[in-house]
Amino acid sequence: MNSTIFTLYLLIIGIIQISASKNQTKFSLTTPSLLLQFDTSTSNVLSSIQSTDPTDPTSTRTFSNPSATLFSIEIVNATSLFTIDSKNPTATRTLTSTTPTQTTATWSYPQLSTTVSLHFTSSEPFINIVPSITFPDNINHGIATFTLSIPMNPSTEDAVFFPDSYGVESSGTNGYSGTYPSAAAAMQHMAISSSTGPGIYVAAHDKSGDWKELGYDGSTCFHVKIVPVGATKPVPTWSAEYSVSIAALPKITDSNPLYKSASELYREFIFEEPAAEWLRRGMIKNRLPDHLKNSHVWLNTGWQCHDVFEDVQGDPATAQGRVEDVVGLWRDLGMKTPVGLHYYEWQQGPDPDPSSRYLFDTHYPDYFPGRVSSSGTTVKQFSKTVKETLDVYTYPYINGRIFDLTCDSYIADDGESVCVKVPSSMKLFSSSNTDLSVPTENYGSGPDFCIANPATEYWQNKIGATVEELVNEYGSSGVYIDQVASASMNLCYDPSHNHTIANGHWWRNGYLGMFNKIHELVGDSTNAPMVTESNSEIYMDMVEGYLPLTAFAKPFASSSNGNILVPAFSFVYGGYYNAFGAEFYQADFTDIPYLRSKIAGMLITGTQIGWFSLGGIEDDACGEMGLYDLFMDKENLDVNQYIVDSANIRSELVDFFLNGRQYPNPVADPAPKIAGTNWEYLDVMTGTWVSEHASEVVVLLCNVADSDKQFTLTLDFTTYGWKEGDQYKMDGSDEVFTVDSGNVQVVDMDVESTGIEVLRFALVQ
Ligand SMILES: *[C@@H]1O[C@H](CO)[C@@H](O)[C@H](O)[C@H]1NC(C)=O
Ligand SMILES: *[C@@H]1O[C@H](CO)[C@@H](O)[C@H](O)[C@H]1NC(C)=O
Ligand SMILES: *[C@@H]1O[C@H](CO)[C@@H](O)[C@H](O)[C@H]1NC(C)=O
Repeated sequence: MNSTIFTLYLLIIGIIQISASKNQTKFSLTTPSLLLQFDTSTSNVLSSIQSTDPTDPTSTRTFSNPSATLFSIEIVNATSLFTIDSKNPTATRTLTSTTPTQTTATWSYPQLSTTVSLHFTSSEPFINIVPSITFPDNINHGIATFTLSIPMNPSTEDAVFFPDSYGVESSGTNGYSGTYPSAAAAMQHMAISSSTGPGIYVAAHDKSGDWKELGYDGSTCFHVKIVPVGATKPVPTWSAEYSVSIAALPKITDSNPLYKSASELYREFIFEEPAAEWLRRGMIKNRLPDHLKNSHVWLNTGWQCHDVFEDVQGDPATAQGRVEDVVGLWRDLGMKTPVGLHYYEWQQGPDPDPSSRYLFDTHYPDYFPGRVSSSGTTVKQFSKTVKETLDVYTYPYINGRIFDLTCDSYIADDGESVCVKVPSSMKLFSSSNTDLSVPTENYGSGPDFCIANPATEYWQNKIGATVEELVNEYGSSGVYIDQVASASMNLCYDPSHNHTIANGHWWRNGYLGMFNKIHELVGDSTNAPMVTESNSEIYMDMVEGYLPLTAFAKPFASSSNGNILVPAFSFVYGGYYNAFGAEFYQADFTDIPYLRSKIAGMLITGTQIGWFSLGGIEDDACGEMGLYDLFMDKENLDVNQYIVDSANIRSELVDFFLNGRQYPNPVADPAPKIAGTNWEYLDVMTGTWVSEHASEVVVLLCNVADSDKQFTLTLDFTTYGWKEGDQYKMDGSDEVFTVDSGNVQVVDMDVESTGIEVLRFALVQ
């Protein structure tokens, strides 16, 4: 992709220079555009990182921060946990085994007879850093955590990128912390750069999905906190299973925003063979049933941010009436494609008395039987009717992660044996004397839950059987399995679970086992697709739909330099996942351009639109969410039409969203303006997608404002992977253009208020 850029620098071979004087050793390790300098006489050792902008060799920037602590390690012995770090004044620092492309910096702690090493290898474009530790004996010490930091000296001119859900950017002095894998750390790369100088990429390069914490304090450093596989067990030596890797990033430009330059490097790592585990099933298109590929709009029966849900929403007859009204209206307005329905509060439990019904977030994983309306309508009849008459596909809600400590299954089946367990106090692990406790969670719905360990056969079978009953007995088209991709992995120290203590590949493999069990029982995913909340990367091969609610909790624009959504996930993983849904509120209808911007935000990021709530109770803290009455209000016919039009445009372009990748937008002049008072958004929302084999580029432009907009759009097709000399046409014209370095295509745009324009360009084959 950047082949021309990198060729220039390939000429410079990675080199290490060493100069020694008395007891001071300085050395440097380079990749073509990154230079690390060390000084063993200073407490920090990694004294500076210098980055050269590959697009501008005269532009360099040095990152150094003496107050950063390069590493900090939590060590356990038989009685307690203690910490050592890189700044310890008694540590002696040396360099060993230095060759032109690698070196090892070592800290020796005489009182502990312990040595800590950071092994640096230069492997273009990355410098990979792997920590290791050696203890004096085989039995007395273990590691709880190893935190490695990359010093940084940010200014407010910098932008930073974090892998929060779809990706966020904000001002360089804003901090971040996310536990991977989870909604808050869906990928593993972070970055900093500015429009005036080059920057740095900092990532965990792990292809197995283990737990880690990614963070940035906004002033002194980025960090990756590693928990070893088998953490706290006695070990003579330990070496990290993966590297923390850094690389130079160019200055930020319009066509090369920070998220793109950083994500290009991350993608290079993730897709390099052997590719990450979660890519092994290939592209998503082969795993989706036609109805899910084409469910451009989603509904839910009703939800509330607190776990207090409207009771009547899940009553089959009530849900059916609401779905028939709203989808019937949309059909009248011209929507032809299927609709996905996320079905809450469908469960009754064993006692048919309505007052004994199993409410939301109670009794998990016990649900059956399903509700029956007073009119006699069952869950199955409802699901079957809306599918046959309205092309609506029902996905009942279950939870794939938590186990109610008071439910029948927990009591009958020794639920505690399945729960994730942690040491009561952190010390050296020994299966005989380590006191374990069960962490619990409470969502305000009443019961306490433990976290069911997905690596246990019990949980895999339990969720498998639940899904089997829903699909085979209740007519469900698929199942929504909550929390899997949104909640963090939990470290578990229970040796009876047959997995490595604390961290390990067992969490991902456990869920993989659970989804494999499900498909063994209900057929493959084209027969019964599974969906979950959020878009954590490691579940990509297990689910056919991500509900990225927290991605859309960030705005697309911020006048105060707060977090904004950037489409990093669709740039890295376009073609390998499917996503649907954002949170909508009644209050959105008080600012219709803003409401349009939320719908447009989903359209331009390739996300299936909606997840509009049909019911919901009033709740001051959450805001009101039930939209049924608003959709049925004649005053809001335009909103309904906007949803239908957006769905129809999505339908025309579905191959781009399903199989293609999202790229940075062409430059608009004048640029879209930040609008809105209560909630900020861009008045023109733009999304640019490149087709699967890069033969087509499409630009969607949604004018969500109440006035018409004129602007020019400048496209540089080399940004989208086209090469000099490539010939292309613009949709609607026979003229043939040639991609020419330094030449760009300028298009005059006139987009009327609420209009959605589509520009398509295709290579002439
Ligand atoms: C060598 O290092 C030690 C400990 O870091 C320091 O006290 C001493 O002054 C250094 N000696 C010279 C000659 O730099
Ligand atoms: C464990 O480490 C602590 C802190 O360094 C120390 O006080 C304690 O004596 C050690 N315990 C054992 C059994 O070595
Ligand atoms: C652990 O392995 C043993 C022996 O194969 C098996 O009986 C037990 O059920 C396993 N435990 C769990 C929690 O899966």
